[in-house]
This record gives sequence, C-alpha cells and structure tokens, in this order.
Amino acid sequence: MLVSARSFAEYRAMFALTDDDLALRVLDCPGGAAGFVAGAGARGTDAVAVDPEYGREGHRLGGLALREIAHKHAEVAAHPERFVWSWFGDPDRYTRSRAEAARAFTADLARRPHRYVAGALPHLPFRDGAFDLVLSSHLLFCYGDRFGERVHRDALVELVRVARREVRLYPLVPHTGGRRYAGLDGLRAHLAQSGVDSRLERVDYAFLPGGDEMLVLDCGGRGPLAAAPPGARAVPDDPVRWRHRVPGG
Ligand SMILES: C[S@@+](CC[C@H](N)C(=O)[O-])C[C@H]1O[C@@H](n2cnc3c(N)ncnc32)[C@H](O)[C@@H]1O
Repeated sequence: MLVSARSFAEYRAMFALTDDDLALRVLDCPGGAAGFVAGAGARGTDAVAVDPEYGREGHRLGGLALREIAHKHAEVAAHPERFVWSWFGDPDRYTRSRAEAARAFTADLARRPHRYVAGALPHLPFRDGAFDLVLSSHLLFCYGDRFGERVHRDALVELVRVARREVRLYPLVPHTGGRRYAGLDGLRAHLAQSGVDSRLERVDYAFLPGGDEMLVLDCGGRGPLAAAPPGARAVPDDPVRWRHRVPGG
C-alpha cells in the first residue's frame, strides 16, 4: 500500500461528513499525506491524523505522495474505464485534486506538526474515547487479501477504543474495486458481541467500482473489547510503498 493524498473534499464525500460532524473532535487514521486535517483545521475543526510514517519520514511524505500521484495519473489516463468518474469528472481533475491535497498536507505538517502523530494500528497512542469521530480511509478492507481477519479485527477494536461516538470506514471494496470485503459480516458480528452496532451507508462518492459505501460503527454503547496483545502483528509493510524514493528526495 502506498501513501496517498485524498483531499478534504473527498473525505467529506467518502464519509458523508456534515457540518455537525466537523464540529466534533476527529481522528484520521491513517492520515498518510491526505489533506483532511489541513482542510478541517482551516475551518476550525479539532482534527488529528495518525500514521506510522509520521515517525519515520513525515517531512518527505508529501513529496513521495506527489510522485505516486504522477505515477497513478499515467495508469488512470491509460485505463479510465477501470474507475468511476462521477465525482472527479476526468483524470486531469483527479490528479490536480490529489496534488493539491498533498501540498496542503505538507504545508499544514510544517505549520502544525502536533496535529500529525506517529502511531500504528493495532496500538494507537491515544486514551480510550479520545476522539468523538474516527475516520479510516483506504487501509482496512481495501487490502483485505493481504491482511487477514485477525489484523482487521484487532485494528477495528482499536479504532473503536479511541472513538467516543462513531468510527467510519471507507471503502469496503478492494483497492482495485469489486465486491465488499468477504469477512465484513464476521467482523461486524464480532463487534456486535461487545455492544458495537454497525451499519452500511451509501455515500455520494465513488472512484473504485463498487466503492460507494461506508461502514459506520456506533461506539456509544460499547462494552469491554479485547485489545490486541502487545506483540500483535501490525498491518504488514508493503515492498512497493517507496517505489518513488529517489536519492535525497
Ligand atoms: C493508502 S494510504 C491512505 C492515506 C489516507 N487515508 C488517504 O485516504 O489518502 C494508507 C496509509 O496507511 C498507513 N499505514 C500502514 N500501516 C498502518 C498501521 N499499522 N496503522 C495505521 N496506518 C498504517 C500507511 O503509512 C499509509 O499512509
């Protein structure tokens, strides 16, 4: 999986965020090089992002994301039929939006570094219920073939732990598009046993075929949840993630 840079506007659409939602304390996990915290901060939202890369090479993420965006532009322009264009319109607008988001991230990271916290699922560095609303874009479910059910379960339990009201996750389909993650019902049943109700909601956004749904976890009535043991396997690293690295870049 690569570090990507979705925009604040994409987050609003992917997670059906209302003005009321944006008055809450919000966590973006994983933040990557997304423009959500920058855009949310500009409108006064108390938002924080967490990502393991902030502890490694946070200052380089925006540049690496820009290289990935250029790489992806070539793929998207060559194969527009693999994507849904109802939201972006065309490949050029898609690329411009992502590049602007990466730049907004870089500028905000320099100006407000305390908003970007190093941390990794399944053990986030936040107390229970530290955020009202937790958003999780393009990590779980979309790489489901690599992670397996245990990794998903531990990650969901941890996201629920730090959320006081809700966790919203998007997309529910693989990063190539297609059908919902096959283990979704089992994960929802597991959470329901601990008082975490969940629902699927259609959203007014899609880029991956089939990617027009989010999962909402209602944390208000949660009971005790079994956290991952200290040595639990985190989301595995991906060897292609730094394909855009250049010396000194
Ligand atoms: C495809 S990007 C998504 C970034 C952003 N949410 C977006 O939509 O543009 C996936 C991110 O997951 C992060 N990641 C990888 N392992 C993680 C873990 N164990 N916990 C939290 N984030 C992780 C990566 O560093 C990367 O930034």
